[in-house]
Amino acid sequence: MPSDYAADDGHEALLETCSDSTRPHLASGWVGAKNRWRKRQDGQRWLSVCWHRLVQSCRFLTTRRFLSVLLVLITMSITYNIVIFYFENPVFPISSAWKEPRLLPLQMTCSALTETRRNLSKQPEHRSMAKLRIDAKVLLFVETIYSRLGRDIAELLVHNRIKYKVDVVGKSLPVLTNLDKGKFAVIVFENLTKYLTMDNWNRELLDKYCREYGVGVVGFHPVSEEVLIGSQLKGFPIFVHTKMNLKNAALNPASNVLRLTRAGETAWGNLPGNDWTVFAPNHSTYEPLEWASPNSELPSPFVSDHGAARLLYTVVQDHGTYDGIQRVLFGSGLGFWLHRLLLLDALTHLSQGQISLGLNRYVLIDIDDIFVGEKGTRLKPPDVEALLSSQKRLQAMVSGFKFNLGFSGMYFHHGTDEENAGEDLLMEHIDDFSWFSHMWNHKQPHLYDNYTHLEMDMKLNKNFATEKNIPTDSGYSVAPHHAGVYPVHEYLYEAWKKVWNVKVTSTEEYPHLRPARLRRGFIHRNIMVLPRQTCGLFTHTYLIEKYPGGREKLDENIQGGELFQSIVFNPINIFMTHMSNYGNDRLALYTFESVLKFTQCWTNLRLLSTLPVELGEKYFQMFPEEEDPIWGNPCDDSRHIKTWSHNKTCQQLPNFLVIGPQKTGTTALYSFLSMHPNINSNLNSIDTFEEIQFFNGKNYYRGLDWYMGFFPVPINSSSQYLFEKSATYFDGEQVPKRAHALLPQAKLVTILISPAKRAYSWYQHMRAHGDQVALNYSFYEVITASESSNRPLRDLRNRCLLPGKYSQHLERWLTYYSSSQLFIIDGEELRTAPVDVMNSVQKFLKITPPFDYATHLRFDKKKGFYCQIINEDKTKCLGRSKGRKYPQMDERSLKLLQRYYLSHNTALVKLLKRLGHQNIPGWLKMDLSDTMVT
Ligand code: A3P
Repeated sequence: MPSDYAADDGHEALLETCSDSTRPHLASGWVGAKNRWRKRQDGQRWLSVCWHRLVQSCRFLTTRRFLSVLLVLITMSITYNIVIFYFENPVFPISSAWKEPRLLPLQMTCSALTETRRNLSKQPEHRSMAKLRIDAKVLLFVETIYSRLGRDIAELLVHNRIKYKVDVVGKSLPVLTNLDKGKFAVIVFENLTKYLTMDNWNRELLDKYCREYGVGVVGFHPVSEEVLIGSQLKGFPIFVHTKMNLKNAALNPASNVLRLTRAGETAWGNLPGNDWTVFAPNHSTYEPLEWASPNSELPSPFVSDHGAARLLYTVVQDHGTYDGIQRVLFGSGLGFWLHRLLLLDALTHLSQGQISLGLNRYVLIDIDDIFVGEKGTRLKPPDVEALLSSQKRLQAMVSGFKFNLGFSGMYFHHGTDEENAGEDLLMEHIDDFSWFSHMWNHKQPHLYDNYTHLEMDMKLNKNFATEKNIPTDSGYSVAPHHAGVYPVHEYLYEAWKKVWNVKVTSTEEYPHLRPARLRRGFIHRNIMVLPRQTCGLFTHTYLIEKYPGGREKLDENIQGGELFQSIVFNPINIFMTHMSNYGNDRLALYTFESVLKFTQCWTNLRLLSTLPVELGEKYFQMFPEEEDPIWGNPCDDSRHIKTWSHNKTCQQLPNFLVIGPQKTGTTALYSFLSMHPNINSNLNSIDTFEEIQFFNGKNYYRGLDWYMGFFPVPINSSSQYLFEKSATYFDGEQVPKRAHALLPQAKLVTILISPAKRAYSWYQHMRAHGDQVALNYSFYEVITASESSNRPLRDLRNRCLLPGKYSQHLERWLTYYSSSQLFIIDGEELRTAPVDVMNSVQKFLKITPPFDYATHLRFDKKKGFYCQIINEDKTKCLGRSKGRKYPQMDERSLKLLQRYYLSHNTALVKLLKRLGHQNIPGWLKMDLSDTMVT
């Protein structure tokens, strides 16, 4: 017996506690070697039997018999070669019609697959009273903001929508509590050593917090430079051995950490990397969570008295009986897929159920182009039968599962006779599947510039469906290449609603295709857009040879890789596949059956499926914060620009925004800017008087096309500047985020005056507009209104006071935009020296050629403000509503407001200094100094 085989048997014996029923190939590991050896042995045995028989039969051989045997052999060989030629050559339809797919099922016979009904109800919830006292948020300590593992952890948290804060270890601790509530439910250290060697003061503080709030710690042992053998973890009764090369990982079925992850199977094969740390505990507080076998000779501490290697603990749980803090320690990062699952379970356990992911996973598999495909790549009757039987097997795993078939009726019966027969067979089984409309002719909707044509084509597909008895009421549709869904082509939404009553669709493009973990949903015009997942199969990947990286890559994707993780991390998975993936090598059937089996083997997830409309409702019940879309710039994504109407241009978007706040002189600035021959403002909105107010209100839901409709297409975009002024943008909660998503390069201009004066000007503005509250209450009454005052009064008070908290609002803008994109104008200077101000604005905006405002602006005595020069005697001033005459603010109100804004004004001074402003505006100094005196 060859020695390598003997060694493998020995390792198998080490793992006698683990089930050996599942043997996914993690790499070309020992299972492959063993199989090769077995084949070799079988082959040798077969040859020797044949030889023996031949020698025996030679005794009866005559020349005649010999010749006839030879003739038979030659005939057989010729026939065999002809048959092989026809079967293997794709030119001949016989080849794929009769050939069984070449992918044998993935070897997976884990116990979960043989159990008639998996008992999923008993997974621990870990819930406790702690939920009242700690927020479901992770505090992640990283070595640097660039460290790899830290990024991997953060990405995993984002993918699972777990809130977190990153902090660089070594600095002082962030604030851990808010009133009597813990701000973090679990503390994660990317590098366990940094936790162990933290300075005493911080460590004591952290330990105290963990004990008081029942918060646990996760630590990853770092890759060590040197080989450590039996080295003690500082301060703990546990030892480590580093730089290990391991294989065959299994989980401790008795561990109470496991919730999402299912124990009982073994991940056969080499574990990634050769720098694993293993733990050797010396206290009952520790319990192994994962173990593995060595891949190389072991040093003495890890060999038992009998000379056999022990199981090596690669992840351990600290029950907290040693020092009152529970922990989970990892001997390697997230390179091994199982650790990603274990980390999620550790977070649930250590947060006492505060951070918890549901165990239901919905799976919908769309076959986008059921009738679309080249001749020779389409479904034949055996493929349809295979589809039906695969669906049955999937239904046994995924409750409520049906393949969801998308049709473009125009291409029905466009295949060979046999392929057409395949489609006829599909039609016989209409009721076995779910159906949704694609486009009649598979044309991308953004290519329709004429609404009527789009609607007509949609109707053709509907007529086709009605004729064929295909259900038309799914409320779901997907556009070819998802075109028109995002970026939005409004005609598509309109026609979908009208012709198909579409309520839900899906795309992988929102906000971008990559990274897939950031794909999200949104609702536009009452149509729910769900994120769609990619399974790695496309129209061109219909044979295993065409799969990038071949079968090994596909299997890697399934066995713990991206596809598997997509199912684990996304509660609702809508997968896109194509008809060609179900014919030919039937890669889709292989992929989904395998990945769902793998999910059953390794997780306690409940696999479910339901109708798309219900999926949409569930999705937005789970993630209501995603309902509002965030419009991005289609030109910032090369894929988006390809599915955007050729009639649209990103040049129709503003280069800069005048963001307000109201009553600071924004109209004056707007009119001065508009005087410049190279600067164009937006066209006026009929609904909102002169301002578009896109980013802050309901207008945002009207979409990008609506917004762009306000801007002229610049004749020369390099020398012409577009801008928009909406003074309410300044303090709009959502505005900076939305504006940045669409206009990340835009410049921002804001004007500040004394916030007290601004409040008073707003009040006067409301009175002038006949606002009853402003007319019925004095300014003092408005600004001193209490929480028990009537609602309209409180509203007016808020609108008077809140925009004046300048520093708060500016900080919000600065979380999205860099300070170099922001220009702050002193409103008093704009009023008294507009020429100087306009010169600096032009400089900031880099506008060429500069416009000579000195020859275009003149102080108008009658108006009391600078106005545009028309000729020597005539000026054009702003209307009566700007620069109104009204009594001065009473002293009592002024003092009160100066006090009210004290902390905000102080913060503003700091902010201005941080932004490099040499001169603090006079009004700000005055407001602050007046407060000091009183
Ligand atoms: P008042 O009307 O209270 O004096 P906005 O355009 O942002 O609503 O701001 C209006 C304010 O702009 C006016 O408030 C006025 O003081 C100020 N302003 C500054 N320069 C001006 C100008 N050249 N013409 C008119 N108003 C000007």
